[in-house]
Amino acid sequence: MNQDELKALVGKAALAHVVEGSIVGVGTGSTVNCFIDALATIKGRIKGAVSSSERSTERLRLHGIHVFEAGEVEHLPVYIDGADEIDHRGHMIKGGGAALTREKIVADLAERFVCIADESKLVQVLGRFPLPVEVIPMALPQVARRFAALGGQARVRAGVVTDNGQAILDVAGLSITDPLAMEQEVNQWPGVVSVGIFARHRARVCLLGTAQGVKTLTF
Ligand code: A5P
Repeated sequence: MNQDELKALVGKAALAHVVEGSIVGVGTGSTVNCFIDALATIKGRIKGAVSSSERSTERLRLHGIHVFEAGEVEHLPVYIDGADEIDHRGHMIKGGGAALTREKIVADLAERFVCIADESKLVQVLGRFPLPVEVIPMALPQVARRFAALGGQARVRAGVVTDNGQAILDVAGLSITDPLAMEQEVNQWPGVVSVGIFARHRARVCLLGTAQGVKTLTF
């Protein structure tokens, strides 16, 4: 099976985690696109969705799925999203699609984070994938210097403006052995909107697409 087939497989498998009659938290990315297409087949059995990006909102609406604003909702039973990396404790790097801040906001409304990913995303230690960080443009050099002091090389993602009108720094060369501590530290830096480490909002379940089928990891 190729990567696209694995994504389609886990996108479908995630339907088993959708709670009937509820509003579903929906992430962003190519794996989530497969999930959205699968969700359309059971759209009569959900109330709607809260989306983490303009792109996902558009796809949900094209399928005729009602999209609620995050502010209209107090609680979601489940949030389903992909990841750029996930470790064996459910900690993730996210933001490859620049949607990390809204992803964290919607994940925070949810009881359970269900991660859908192909097996290439499973790692021992987070950091091989450059860490995305959403930053207010004025603070870019300052935040980049702080990462340099930690051994990271930060680069502004060219031509990208987030849904929130901010910039993305991609930080290579980090070995994130304590994801929770690093998430908390970077969150304190002035100018950082959010960091793409999902440790406080880690996954509780990961549906991993493998050549042998869907493997369910629980954390
Ligand atoms: C979007 O900002 C990201 O957090 C995505 O969840 C992540 O990049 C995974 O995307 P794919 O499913 O396209 O690999």
